[in-house]
Amino acid sequence: MSQIVEPAATRRAFVVGGIGLAASLALPRTAQSAQSPADINLAASPGRWPLVGEQNLETNVWNYNGRIPGPEIRVRQGEPVRIVVENKLDEETTVHWHGIRLSNAMDGVPGLTQPPIKPGETFTYEFTPPDAGTFWYHPHADSLRQLGRGLAGALIVEEASPVAVDRDILWMLSDWRLDSEGQIFGGFGNAMEAAMSGRVGNTVTINGALSNEVAVRAGERIRLRLANCALARIMALRFDGHKPWVVAIDGQPCEPHQPGSGRILLGPAMRVDLIIDMRGEPGRRYHVTDDFYDGLAYWLTQLAYDDKPSVRAHPLDAPVSLPRNPLTEPDLTSAEHHVLTLQGGMMGGGGMMGMGGMHGMSHRASWAINGKSMTGDGHAGMPPLLTLQLGRTYVLTLRNETAWWHPMHLHGYSFQVLTRNGSPVPHRQWADTILIPPKQSADIAFVANNPGDWMLHCHVTDHQVSGMMTVLRVA
Ligand code: C2O
Ligand code: CU
Repeated sequence: MSQIVEPAATRRAFVVGGIGLAASLALPRTAQSAQSPADINLAASPGRWPLVGEQNLETNVWNYNGRIPGPEIRVRQGEPVRIVVENKLDEETTVHWHGIRLSNAMDGVPGLTQPPIKPGETFTYEFTPPDAGTFWYHPHADSLRQLGRGLAGALIVEEASPVAVDRDILWMLSDWRLDSEGQIFGGFGNAMEAAMSGRVGNTVTINGALSNEVAVRAGERIRLRLANCALARIMALRFDGHKPWVVAIDGQPCEPHQPGSGRILLGPAMRVDLIIDMRGEPGRRYHVTDDFYDGLAYWLTQLAYDDKPSVRAHPLDAPVSLPRNPLTEPDLTSAEHHVLTLQGGMMGGGGMMGMGGMHGMSHRASWAINGKSMTGDGHAGMPPLLTLQLGRTYVLTLRNETAWWHPMHLHGYSFQVLTRNGSPVPHRQWADTILIPPKQSADIAFVANNPGDWMLHCHVTDHQVSGMMTVLRVA
């Protein structure tokens, strides 16, 4: 559990002028935006969107193609994708395809992998996703404001043959800091907040709207793809009365397992694919609760069963694993080992830790990796912290010396999660973003088979832009 800078109101505490709560969320559609994978257009622009569900109350947002979240892009594993991004904002942007193993020039980091897309200009991203799974896209320029005002969407890469479920649905979870008029507070990049939890908001939406309930049917098996698109909010979801199976993490299939605690932990940028058998009673409702922050539990939505009898006479057997993606197994016998130490931030009690002595701290820097702080969203000439030899296996120990949680993301790769605090991690877990609790560590491994300059940073956006970022060069 952790602390946040200011108490986030529970979702139920957010009342707009006495107007009632959001109407029930329509069931998420699975392919409403499926376009020809050959040519997809995305336009980033300012817009308005009814986040809190009231027709007369629209929030000023920035979005893709006029909607929150951006269009759900569905493509097939191994088939080429071409996405033309048009910038209709009045500042530069880029798009990062989070978790996709693509060539460096398509990775969307301004300065480092491409020139930023200027207002009025376009950039065409082309790649062939090697892995099936749940991925997402977001800007990598002025990230705090662009992501915090709504620029994000899902990128689903479908398996060659569909997995046996009755329905495949997606929850894009976003966290907003709204004022009493339902508008997004400014003040992005507050230095005090940046040195602590980052900008945690007060309103969590599912697929761009507050959700009162999600309709389900007794007996059905649902694949639920969860994506945490928040700037900073960590989530721990519990499904009352249900026992979800975790079948994939960050898009990569793992051995299906039911977390002992029943909680699904999701740091910013993380995705988890669940398989849930709807074994509740017809006509009943069950809360989905997020209780990550001490004393700030709230319910996110309810699973609302219709009155009809179960669609199946007998409960289903345990789900089978998803087909594995073509990842190269690390060769641990010949691996080279490096330690990356996460440093900085405000201590629980208030004092700054280690600020004076750190080399390379700029004015805005609150965080560092191995004593160095890279700030911002990406720029030209970032010197790599390490140069990795193409084709070699690397084991990185990520050691969190701070008093805060950090979801650490490596671009261009999925890595195997070997150990946490020295103990083996079960269920064959791969990830692109790993959440590391305060004072804990994790060992990850990957084969450096994708050449280029790749970002490694915390996905609490305030932490990234204030120093918890570095570059790994693979050459
Ligand atoms: Cu989703 Cu550099 O991040
Ligand atoms: Cu962090």
